[in-house]
Amino acid sequence: MYDLDIQRVRESYAAIGDGAGLGRGFYAQLFRLRPDARALFPADLDQQVRKLIDMLGSIVRALDAPSQLARDFAELGRRHLGYGVSEEDYDDVGAALLMALREQLGPAFTPEVEQAWATLYGDLAEAMIAAENGASPPA
Ligand code: HEM
Repeated sequence: MYDLDIQRVRESYAAIGDGAGLGRGFYAQLFRLRPDARALFPADLDQQVRKLIDMLGSIVRALDAPSQLARDFAELGRRHLGYGVSEEDYDDVGAALLMALREQLGPAFTPEVEQAWATLYGDLAEAMIAAENGASPPA
């Protein structure tokens, strides 16, 4: 990722606060786009919101160590096979994330910030999908 993208992701993430609103907004958007995906998740979403926020926080911290990030995401992708997730689901999850970010950031969600997050999500989703399809993580 370009430095500019990292900086935009970090600054916008820092502006979000504790992330609980983002997490809840994300699942609300996802289940609006994809009501059928609700059944994949546990009834109690609070813990899921916490996991999502923890994961986003560690991604944002690790942005300058992309090879570590790629390895973590390969593992995450392999775990997702067991969660009943399909490749097509990634587009909806990405769209829900961008909508939730837009809600939280308001006018601070500029086209450049949106592009930075879309690029980041696209890279991560690609690494997860490659791992689900059996590719080895980069050395
Ligand atoms: C970049 C994309 C994604 C990230 C960063 C992500 C992150 C996570 C994390 C951190 C967990 C907690 C468990 C673990 O670490 O293994 C998890 C679980 C889960 N994710 Fe994802 N995920 C992504 C994409 C998706 C997609 C596309 C779906 C499809 C709807 C999905 C559905 C699920 C489900 C069903 C669980 C397990 C819920 C449970 O039973 O506890 N995820 N995800």
